[in-house]
Formats: sequence, C-alpha cells, structure tokens
Amino acid sequence: MPKLFEETRIKSLLLKNRIVRSATHEGMSDEAGFPGKELFALYERLARGGAGLIITGYAFVSREGNSNFKGMQGIDRDEHIPAYRALVDHVHSHGAKIAMQIAHCGRQTTRKAAGTQPIAPSPVKDKVLFVTPMQMNEDDIERIIEAFAQAARRARESGFDAVQIHGAHGYLVNQFLSPYTNRRKDRWGGPVENRMRIVSEIYSRCRKQIGHDFPLMIKINGHDNMKKGLKIDEAVIMAQVIAAMGFDGIEVSCGIFEDNQSTIRGDLPVEAILDEWDMYKRKNPVYRTFMRYLGRKIVKPAPFSQAYNLETAMAIKKAVDIPVSVVGGMTDPSSMERIIAGRAADYISMSRALIADPEFPEKIRTGSKALSKCIHCNLCTAYLATKPLRCYRGKRSPANQAV
Ligand SMILES: Cc1cc2nc3c(=O)[nH]c(=O)nc-3n(C[C@H](O)[C@H](O)[C@H](O)COP(=O)(O)O)c2cc1C
Ligand code: SF4
Repeated sequence: MPKLFEETRIKSLLLKNRIVRSATHEGMSDEAGFPGKELFALYERLARGGAGLIITGYAFVSREGNSNFKGMQGIDRDEHIPAYRALVDHVHSHGAKIAMQIAHCGRQTTRKAAGTQPIAPSPVKDKVLFVTPMQMNEDDIERIIEAFAQAARRARESGFDAVQIHGAHGYLVNQFLSPYTNRRKDRWGGPVENRMRIVSEIYSRCRKQIGHDFPLMIKINGHDNMKKGLKIDEAVIMAQVIAAMGFDGIEVSCGIFEDNQSTIRGDLPVEAILDEWDMYKRKNPVYRTFMRYLGRKIVKPAPFSQAYNLETAMAIKKAVDIPVSVVGGMTDPSSMERIIAGRAADYISMSRALIADPEFPEKIRTGSKALSKCIHCNLCTAYLATKPLRCYRGKRSPANQAV
C-alpha cells in the first residue's frame, strides 16, 4: 500500500489519503460571497477525483478583505451558513473532506474590490496593484481578529471539517508576519514575537469560538522571496510558535504578489494580464508591445521546478511535531510517494495539477505514474481577474471558449 494513500487522522478528522487540494480561488461566488452552482460541480469533480481533503478558495472574513479577483467566497455573515452547509454535504456525499480557508487580502487588493481604501499593518505600496494601504489602528486590528474568529465559527457551523487561516502569499496575516510589509514600532511590529502576535490573537480568539476539538490549520510562507521579506530562519521559529499554540497543521508555501511569481512558478501570462487586469489594460498597440517585451524582463518569473517548497517544508517539519503539508510544483506521483515515505512532509498539497486534472489523485491511486497535465502556463491565474477558474492550457482566446 503506497504511503500516499494511507489513512490519517487530524483530531476527529479522518482522511482517506495524504493528498490535499490546496486552497484555490475559484471565482464562482456571487458579489456577497455566496457559493454558486459551478462551485458545487467543481468540488464534486475534485471529490470524485480522489483528493482526501479539499481546501476551499480563500473566503473573506470581512467585506473589505475581498479580493480583486472576481467571485471570492465570503464567510462574513451568518446568512452564508445554510449555503455552505449544502456545499459541504455535497462534498461529503462524494467521499471527500473539506476545510475552509479564511482570509483577508489587506493591501493585496484594490479599492474597488475592498469598497474602501485597503488596510494593512503599514502603508507600504503594493507595486503590482499600485495600492497604498491605510495603516491599521488598534480598533482595526481588533475588528479583524474578531472577524477571523467569527468566520471560523461560521465555518464550523456550516459543517466544514477544518479551518485553514491564510497566513501566506502576501495577504493580511502574512503582511503582519513579514518585515517587508510590517514596519510598525508598536506591539504588532518589530521582533518576531511582535509580528507573530496577530497569529496568536487570531488563534486564541478562534479557539474560543470553535473549541479545541476542531482542526485549525494555517498556511504560511517558508519565505516571501523578497530581499526585506520573511526568511526561512524566521519562518521556522514562527512554525515552532504556531505548533506550540496548538494549531493542527501547517502548509508551507512561499512568495507574495510583488515577487517574481515564486508562489506559482512557471510562465508569466503577459498577454492575458494585458487583456484582463484593469490596472494593465490598454488598447494602445505601442504600450502592449512594450509590455509584451518588458513584462517578463521586469518580473523575471521564477522558473518552474518540481516540489519547489520542499526544502523549506522539510526545515519546518524537522522543527515541529504537527503535520506539515508541502505545496508548489507537486506534479510527479513518484516524487510524492518518496516525500511521504521519507517523512519529508505529511501531506502533498496541489493546486494547478488539480485544476488541469481533478482526477489526478484517482489516477495515481490506480497505478498511474504519469506527471500532471499542468504545463504551468499560469493562464488560469491571469483569467481569474474576470472569469471563473478553469484550465486554459493551449487555449489562445479563452474569452471565446465555452466554459
Ligand atoms: C488559480 C489559482 C488560485 C489560487 N488561489 C489561492 C487561494 O485562494 N488561497 C491560497 O492559499 N493559495 C491560492 N493559490 C496558490 C496555491 O494554493 C498554491 O500554493 C500554488 O499554486 C502552488 O501550488 P501548485 O504548484 O500545486 O499550483 C492559488 C493558485 C492558483 C494557480
Ligand atoms: S491554465 Fe491549466 S496548464 Fe496552465 S497553469 Fe493553469 S492549470 Fe496549469
């Protein structure tokens, strides 16, 4: 029996294998964050496709934490609960477990999406979205901590099997953890223990709402891939504190919007970004030619490689005694088995491999050693600005394709 398909338990949560669908924004919710029909269909495919645990796309804990990508899930009010109950039941009836990822975008969103000036620990301009956020005051921080706690309660009341806090990829929690985006001199900034305070406050407030028997996990960066950002030595210390607090699992990723696309290594889909992203859209052919030429030169997109967060995940795994998932470039079934068998990580998390082929886990279970179909063109991320999630592999004009 391959180790990848062993049953495991996280508290009361029994998982049929060690394959996790990493949180992936689906763009299938309405303006108020309610899940749409397409989301039911997608999760059914993922559940039938064999992932043991599905982590939802990030859900905003309060409206101003909304993403600039269209159709983010929301969990900021009790009215969401019946809708998610139906979604969770649907996933369970197809044999998978489901966790909700709860998030706040902080500075990594636009004024239009947030409905107000975006907020962040410090007013550090985001150079991708051209947003300078408003520095959060004590009241803002208190409000957001409580919003995370209430969101976790709603997720539990909706029947989700676990909650994952989004502490990675340059979103609000990561903005506090990272010395690049957190320049505060008060108790929320400066040394590691101060930058970590947001996590311990969110943790204890969530526990008050969901109790200690319910799985509560977090996704963090092993590094931000920014000169002044979070580095692995600090991430290891943070992971140790996270484990000591009582979190039930850590998923290890990397990168923020502003780095060279290290979160999702592969191609930079310049053409699609010029078509879809408000802040880069222009019809002017000179501008487009200029951007086509310079886009990749400016961003210098990190090249794809297999299991690109494995080293940092292993450093964290060695330092903690709670389950660690590794995400990023997990496309080779043989390598996944080696990682699990060698105890380099406890779970294998995948996003793009399961966008390209939701049945990938089932194929692996039934003996396939073929790599994932994903070619890391990253068109799926570029089109999220305006369209629901799907794989655009090989499609030159997605706007003209039937979904
Ligand atoms: C289209 C798309 C949407 C994503 N949305 C989220 C998200 O909502 N929350 C999150 O934590 N990560 C998100 N990610 C990042 C993935 O979870 C994952 O960390 C990253 O893609 C690397 O894994 P992969 O190589 O398996 O794709 C997204 C990635 C993609 C490609
Ligand atoms: S569009 Fe498809 S092939 Fe391209 S990165 Fe996304 S999932 Fe992979």
